[in-house]
Amino acid sequence: MYRYILIILFAALALSACTGASNAVPTPTPDPFILQGQAVFNARCATCHALVPDTIIIGPSLYGVATRAETRVQGLTAEEYILMSILRPGDYVVEGFNNVMITNFAKEITGEEMDALVAFLLTMK
Ligand code: HEC
Repeated sequence: MYRYILIILFAALALSACTGASNAVPTPTPDPFILQGQAVFNARCATCHALVPDTIIIGPSLYGVATRAETRVQGLTAEEYILMSILRPGDYVVEGFNNVMITNFAKEITGEEMDALVAFLLTMK
């Protein structure tokens, strides 16, 4: 939960930097591993997935995915479900969506990047 707040703070600061607004809130140091995962997400996933509620780009919003992931497939933990969703997206297709997610991430994303990405998504409670 604390990590999640850090991410939100960081995102808010990044956004305010873009709009040029000055923001005097002191930044706590975010976890570099989570930030690495967020960078992988921005580079590979953000074209199809939003992180804010109720926003569909091509895929479903991943807001709250860490919570949902626990109950998606019986026998899979949240971590296992998220990893499976990335490596074998066709195994479980979210209701209302087509199975159009790219399937070559295993080749394109290194093991370390994948761990960071999953850790980042697990903060999306
Ligand atoms: C071309 C668009 C596209 C890209 C790029 C993409 N996805 Fe998806 N994703 C989808 C679609 C469409 C679905 C819903 C269908 C399904 O379940 O496969 C989905 C489903 C998911 C789900 C399941 C969500 C749930 O509520 O159960 C997760 C998790 C996910 N994607 C993560 C990722 C991650 C992480 C990346 C980047 C490595 C990524 N996706 C890249 C289109 C995309």
